[in-house]
Amino acid sequence: MSQSETVDLLAQPLTLPCGITLQNRLCKAAMTEGLGDRQLRATERHRRLYARWGAGGPALCLTGNVMIDRWVIERPGKVAIDTTHPASVDEAARQRLRAWAEAGTANGAQLWMQISHAGRQSPRYAAKQPLGPSAVQLDLMGNYARPRALEDGEICELIQRFGAAAGIAKETGFTGVQIHGAHGYLISSFLSPVTNRRTDRWGGELINRARFLLETVRAVRHVVGRDYPVSVKLNSDDFRKGGFSHEDCLSVVRMLNDEHIDLLEISGGTYEQPQLLGLAGRANDAVAVKPSTRAREAYFLHYAAQIRAVAAMPLMVTGGFRSRDGMASALASGETDMIGIARPFCTMPDAAAALLARTVDQLPAYEQRLRLANSGWRSPASPILLFKVINMLGAQGWYYQQIERLADGKDADLDRGLMRSFGRHLWDELSRAARLRR
Ligand SMILES: Cc1cc2nc3c(=O)[nH]c(=O)nc-3n(C[C@H](O)[C@H](O)[C@H](O)COP(=O)(O)O)c2cc1C
Repeated sequence: MSQSETVDLLAQPLTLPCGITLQNRLCKAAMTEGLGDRQLRATERHRRLYARWGAGGPALCLTGNVMIDRWVIERPGKVAIDTTHPASVDEAARQRLRAWAEAGTANGAQLWMQISHAGRQSPRYAAKQPLGPSAVQLDLMGNYARPRALEDGEICELIQRFGAAAGIAKETGFTGVQIHGAHGYLISSFLSPVTNRRTDRWGGELINRARFLLETVRAVRHVVGRDYPVSVKLNSDDFRKGGFSHEDCLSVVRMLNDEHIDLLEISGGTYEQPQLLGLAGRANDAVAVKPSTRAREAYFLHYAAQIRAVAAMPLMVTGGFRSRDGMASALASGETDMIGIARPFCTMPDAAAALLARTVDQLPAYEQRLRLANSGWRSPASPILLFKVINMLGAQGWYYQQIERLADGKDADLDRGLMRSFGRHLWDELSRAARLRR
């Protein structure tokens, strides 16, 4: 493929079913910011961060996951739009959301709010009582309490809350919303037979397990109307034995075809099998990643090709894209319409502009350097498990801390070490949890 074809593909506009046109094919994918205040409201740091990301060239920026339930959060420092609590929705909270949306869209980028419920993946220091479709505990270093199974009426109420949060996103100037149906959070946990053991209308057959997602999409669409972008992030596979499979994913995409989705983002994995970050989880309950996808720079392209064959809506694939050639060939093959990129934006906020201007061909991939050792999960007694935990949390902390630097108007600190990031991450999470005022 010639250079000019490559650049043209990344720079092509894309008109979505709702009528909105994205100016190019690059998206800054969702990354949890940890910049919320003690009452889980947006701050000046969100404003500064998204002013930088919005000016950095992507047609579309997705926010980190905004919580619809302030009691069950993904981590401290979240923003919550919990319509049952005044501090989430009063005029002061809305003003802060408006400032965030205004900053992110000032340069013409779309800014869509990702809305989510953490479900059972809310750590002990962030939630006393996680919630799930069933009381199936996440077994990860003892850090997650057993979730309480939701009652039918509570499920209906949460679905309405997704709709109400989307309405506030629209009213405060976000130009679209994304429903987080991936990565093992509440909606995703309803999809999986491992975490959803219900026998009522929300469990059992896939049509029942998908009901939470489908009803949420309908509630959101009902509130925002047909001309406003609504996206869904979905796993291509949970990569967990007995879990939400690729075949399940294809069936859910067929169901979503009737729901007026503007962009379907494809990812994969959960906290147990963190394939979303290109990492392997516990070997004994893992489903292997397809070899043809492993051979390519982006993690889920093989899956996306099969999804493309059944999907009626535009697709975005996120995970692993680092080279302009890799992105252009994925667009040229038709496997995806948009390229989702996350981690490179933590150290290079103008990554999209640089790709479009051809000043870089390759985005940074610091995750490949942030490793003490590469190894599979073993028994908790094994020192290899300790390496794995430090690798995972240290690398995650490294990216969180770069996001905070950008939010403070600084540049990324590329010399920051893995161990320092790990220690600081633990300190930040626990001290923020202690300061929460809910
Ligand atoms: C620091 C960090 C925070 C993340 N937060 C979210 C999030 O809030 N919502 C989400 O859907 N994915 C989240 N992700 C996953 C990314 O959106 C993306 O799927 C993943 O990083 C793979 O893309 P990449 O290889 O370009 O980084 C996060 C990833 C990182 C590294």
